[in-house]
Amino acid sequence: MGDDLYESWAGHWSFATPLYLNHGSFGATPDEINILKERFDRELNADRDWFFWFEGPERLEVVRRQMAAFVGVDEGNMVLVDNVTEALASVLKSLSFEPGDEILITDHGYPPYEDVFRELARRTGVKFLVAEVPYPVTDDGQIIQDVLDRLTDRTRLAIIDHITSRTALVFPIARIVDALGKKGVDTFVDGAHAVGHVKLDLEKMGAAYYASNNHKWLCAPVSSGFLYVRSDRQADIIPAVASKDSAADRPFAARFSWQGTKNLSARLCLPETMAVIGSYHHEGWAGIYGRNHALAVRARELLSRELGLAIPCPESLTGAMFTLPFQKAPQTGERGLRPELRFNHMMREKFGYGLNTLLFKGRLLMRLTAHLYNGLADYERLVKDLKTIL
Ligand SMILES: Cc1ncc(COP(=O)(O)O)c(C=O)c1O
Repeated sequence: MGDDLYESWAGHWSFATPLYLNHGSFGATPDEINILKERFDRELNADRDWFFWFEGPERLEVVRRQMAAFVGVDEGNMVLVDNVTEALASVLKSLSFEPGDEILITDHGYPPYEDVFRELARRTGVKFLVAEVPYPVTDDGQIIQDVLDRLTDRTRLAIIDHITSRTALVFPIARIVDALGKKGVDTFVDGAHAVGHVKLDLEKMGAAYYASNNHKWLCAPVSSGFLYVRSDRQADIIPAVASKDSAADRPFAARFSWQGTKNLSARLCLPETMAVIGSYHHEGWAGIYGRNHALAVRARELLSRELGLAIPCPESLTGAMFTLPFQKAPQTGERGLRPELRFNHMMREKFGYGLNTLLFKGRLLMRLTAHLYNGLADYERLVKDLKTIL
C-alpha cells in the first residue's frame, strides 16, 4: 500500500495540530504550494495593472485549460470559480423556475445549502423534494432507486453529492445522472469532495452541471474550484457575481473570467499543485486515489474492531473518507456550541486534534479522512485516545 512512505509524504505538510483527520472540511495544502502562492501574491502586488490587464488573464486561461484536461472535459465547457458554493449559486440564479416546479435533493447532502434552498423556494415557489437514502446502506442499486422514487413529472433538476457531505458515501453518480437523464431530469452534481479523491471523466459522465473544490482533495490553496456545464446547457448560465464578459451572449468560458477585483493566486497554483502532489506517489494521482482509499478502509476496520462501531457501507461505496456512527453519543458537555461541534471541540481541547463529527438521522457520526500525510499510526493513536473517553 506504500504506507511506509507516509512519513516522508507527511513532511510536505505543516499542521498546527499533532493529528489531522479532517481533510474533508477544508483540505490542506503542502508547504511548497503555499510558498508558491505567496510568490504569486508578491508578483500581483508588485505590478497590479500589468497583472490584472495582461499577464493574469493569459496565465489563468492556461490554468483553466489544464484543469479541464485533468477532469476530462472539453476546455470550452469549464470555468474556474472560488468554490462549489459560487458554482451552485451561479447555476441556481441563472435557471428560471415556475411555482410548483420541483428540485430533487437527498438527505445526505451538504447541510448549509438548506438555507439556500429555503430561500429559493420562498422567492420562486419551487418545491424541494428530499430523497431519503438509508444509512447504513448495503447496496448502490438502492441509492439509485431511492432517488428515482422521489421524481414526479414536475421535477426539473436534481442536486446530488458525488461523495456525500454527511455520510462520506461515494454515490454511483454516473448511473444516477444517467437514470435521471432518461426521465428528462438534469443533475447538478455537487462534487465538492471528488476532484483529487477519485478519477473524474466528466464529459463521459454527462451531467448537465458538475462542480468541485480544488482546495479539498487536490490540496490547492483555498478559494479554488471549477464549474462544468454541458455544452447544451450553457446558454443561460452566467456567474452569480457578474461583470465584464459575463452576459449570456459571450462564450461560456469567458463569462466567469472577470468577477471584480480579487486575489486569484490560489487559481494560479493549480498546474503546480496537480504536478507536485501527483509526483509524490510513483503512480501519480491514480496511485494516490488507490493508496488513500486502501488506508481509509484499513483505518475504518481498525476503529470498528477496537471501538465496537458498526461499519455503515461496503468498501465499494467508500473513497478516502468514511463515517462511523457512535452507538451512544459521547457526553461532551454544554459549551454553547452546536451539538455536532461539541465533540470536535472537546477532542481539540483534550488531545489537540482536528476531526469532524456530524449529526445524521438522530445519531452522532465521526467523519474521518485519509490523505498522503496520514498513516495507520494516526488511527491507532485516535483509537487509544478515544478509548479513554468512550
Ligand atoms: C458536499 C459539499 N458541497 C459543498 C461544500 C461547500 O464548499 P465551499 O465552502 O468550498 O463552497 C462542501 C464543503 O464542505 C461540501 O462538503
